[in-house]
Amino acid sequence: MENPFKDMERHNKPPRGFLLLFFGLIAWGIYYIAAYTPQFSGWSQYKVLQREAEAERKIASERPPLRENPYERDSKAVAEGRGIYREHCAGCHHDSLKGDVGPDLTAHLKYGETDAPKYDSIAKGRPNGMPGFDESLGRDRIWKVLAYVDSVREYGGKP
Ligand code: HEC
Repeated sequence: MENPFKDMERHNKPPRGFLLLFFGLIAWGIYYIAAYTPQFSGWSQYKVLQREAEAERKIASERPPLRENPYERDSKAVAEGRGIYREHCAGCHHDSLKGDVGPDLTAHLKYGETDAPKYDSIAKGRPNGMPGFDESLGRDRIWKVLAYVDSVREYGGKP
């Protein structure tokens, strides 16, 4: 017996929309592979990352430096600062802040006791063995750790 479907199929053209989608997707696939393969287009995720990091740095350097702690007496930030202190500072200034290799942070601070010089001590470091934390912590977390240090210095926060 003749296959009845053979004749039926012969008269059925694929719908135009389907063909459009089909060839469109193929074209898009070829474009996508060409555009995002470093060997074809020179595109590279590392370059993109570098460009983004540069843009971030530029924005950060254009912002005027803060001279007062935005987190002073902010209990949430102080709690976060305590964690940062335990991780990055306690090794030299002791859990109690009373000093070890580094000086006592609850006593007189020779580089200055207002926010700006305290910030600079932490961000840029000081010559006799205080490392700078600008790169590793960033501005926000430096202010938070300082808010914690000041909570102990100034209003009886628990070390
Ligand atoms: C590797 C040890 C070390 C670490 C880690 C360290 N410090 Fe220090 N810190 C020192 C020393 C040593 C000095 C004294 C520097 C000087 O006299 O020039 C100092 C000085 C300071 C000063 C200035 C004190 C003054 O008399 O003016 C502050 C504020 C300070 N540290 C805060 C911190 C904070 C906050 C952290 C954590 C983010 C930290 N330090 C981490 C060793 C350290």
